[in-house]
Amino acid sequence: MTVRVGFLGAGLIATFHSKMLRRSGTDVAWAGVWDPDEGRRAAFAQASGATPCASEEEVLESCDAAYVCTWTAEHRRLVEAAVARGLPVFCEKPLSTDLAGATAMADVVRGAGVTNMVGLIMRRSPACNLARDLIADPASGRVMSVVFRDDQFIPVQGSYRSTWRGDRALAGSGTLLEHAIHDLDILEFLAGRVASVSARSANFHGLDGIEDSVAATLSLVDGGVGSLVSVWHDILERPSLRRMEVFCERALVVLDEPDDWWGPVRWTRLGGEAGSLEAEGLVAECERRGIEMPNADGDFIRAVERGEPVHPDFDDALRAHVLADAVYRSAASGGDSVPVL
Ligand SMILES: NC(=O)c1ccc[n+]([C@@H]2O[C@H](COP(=O)([O-])OP(=O)(O)OC[C@H]3O[C@@H](n4cnc5c(N)ncnc54)[C@H](O)[C@@H]3O)[C@@H](O)[C@H]2O)c1
Repeated sequence: MTVRVGFLGAGLIATFHSKMLRRSGTDVAWAGVWDPDEGRRAAFAQASGATPCASEEEVLESCDAAYVCTWTAEHRRLVEAAVARGLPVFCEKPLSTDLAGATAMADVVRGAGVTNMVGLIMRRSPACNLARDLIADPASGRVMSVVFRDDQFIPVQGSYRSTWRGDRALAGSGTLLEHAIHDLDILEFLAGRVASVSARSANFHGLDGIEDSVAATLSLVDGGVGSLVSVWHDILERPSLRRMEVFCERALVVLDEPDDWWGPVRWTRLGGEAGSLEAEGLVAECERRGIEMPNADGDFIRAVERGEPVHPDFDDALRAHVLADAVYRSAASGGDSVPVL
């Protein structure tokens, strides 16, 4: 069965998904695309072969599955319109500008029973997956501490070619929700559930409601502790970088710059075992360990064909929203410990 995909939003991430779909090897066809920005709509249509449409409804009429790739504030309305028609839906992260919206969206999608997926793409990173396997190895012992840092230049400039991330009404908030929601998701993917958070935030750029520096300390359900720092600065040479260190009882696993996808991943284990892998060597090691990381867009299309679930889904994204909300509530209180339910 050929799956006809429709696109709502024709910017940076829509273009990424369109390219990944083309490389996925699935039986997919491009249906309609709608973006109120005529230039983007036309450029996307020309590059992908999608049909430029005059409205959201026209896109939803034309497709078997919908990609919601608009700025965040529009996600909820468009997801609800898609699932009201029984359409499977891929929605970008964050689901919504706040936890209430994300909860409502997850409820609607769950209730509709449609295949759904969210762009928490770090779960498909070879570097994160090798790190996860090393941490999960019983020889490493329990997770004692995690140290996560992500930073990027504030994405209202440069390669982002848009400014909506500086507008609270469109983005919801700043670096934690818009960028570090990936880290909150990956942190639990690597190190297990978070039990409580205590956080502080700051705003250097003066954009209303758009925090650009967040520091959170975390207690893990299994006894470990950790920290997450997320910052939006003005160093245009640093578009998006991450460093993650996970200390286990008998191992240290580090995911380092320059690339949170291709590595390097470095590790040291009690007894002298040590390694460092990146790029092709990293992928080969993942394959040797039987770690599967199919193209996420291909996975979505295959799940649509079979009418099956696929991950990360709206419930996975809702969990990341719950964590983000706890961090924001703690920061608003000046650092009180907030339990994560
Ligand atoms: N998973 C990731 O790593 C990742 C990376 C980048 C962006 N994102 C997310 O993807 C979403 C889009 O970000 P982007 O970087 O592509 O932004 P962008 O500015 O490049 O594109 C967003 C587009 O949405 C369009 N739009 C707004 N309202 C619309 C509507 N009602 N219907 C159709 N189009 C509409 C805008 O005109 C704009 O062209 C955001 O939620 C962002 O957080 C995720």
